[in-house]
Amino acid sequence: MKKIKILHKSFSKPISCLTAYSPSIANILDGKIDLILVGDSIGSTLYGMNNTQGVTLDMMKSHGAAVNKAIKKSLKVIDMPYKTYDNKIDAYKNAKILINHCRPDLLKIEISEKKLAVLKYLVDKKVNVISHIGVTPQSYKNFNQIKVLGKTNKEKLNLLELAKKSEVHGAKAVLLECVTTDTAKLITENISIPTIGIGASKYCDGQVLVFDDLINLTTNDKKPKFVKNYFNFNKVASNVVKKYNQEVKLKKFPSTKFTYS
Ligand code: KIV
Repeated sequence: MKKIKILHKSFSKPISCLTAYSPSIANILDGKIDLILVGDSIGSTLYGMNNTQGVTLDMMKSHGAAVNKAIKKSLKVIDMPYKTYDNKIDAYKNAKILINHCRPDLLKIEISEKKLAVLKYLVDKKVNVISHIGVTPQSYKNFNQIKVLGKTNKEKLNLLELAKKSEVHGAKAVLLECVTTDTAKLITENISIPTIGIGASKYCDGQVLVFDDLINLTTNDKKPKFVKNYFNFNKVASNVVKKYNQEVKLKKFPSTKFTYS
């Protein structure tokens, strides 16, 4: 894997990251943001799954490779899916498959105390890894059970410990999901690799969101509090579809402009 240069720890110029599962979206994002993540949120976002546990290595391989072709400037990150890094041997075998097939700059794995040895093993094998801590969606069958972490002192200190150990074990960055502002600030100020937050306040060194949420591409009404809707694509696209349907019914489309003579 290439050496990573731009994962700077600098709050003055925070790192920006969005997800992409297809080349068309990757193409829109490329060069405009720092990192493009082929996230396993693809399970719920694109495949209609209730969680990310059904996402397979083959899915990540296909989408990762397709997205990779569209990215020329931004850094590429791919999630290792559920159960593909349960032990060192599987983790490295599956990491190599993703690396060879999709050429990412970094892989992301969800980290608990138990997974720290896997993180270290991958790093020793020269894999660039982002450690995802806080809420780790692969641990949940039912996303309704997800709650913000770091509300108690114990939770806060456990997360700080995990972030510090992620750094010591060689992670290039820590992704913090759904943690309190205090926790994000404490972690960001106490590790020297960047933190990238999702639902983790402005105190992180960077931010990530799911692109589909950003533009309201999905119809899911129950979006988490941290999602900011920048554009209502759903509404605009619905109106376009209605217009197309009407024109077809009225034989207005295709007019001669769209017809071969
Ligand atoms: O899978 C994903 O898209 C993610 C983001 C929510 C950070 O991990």
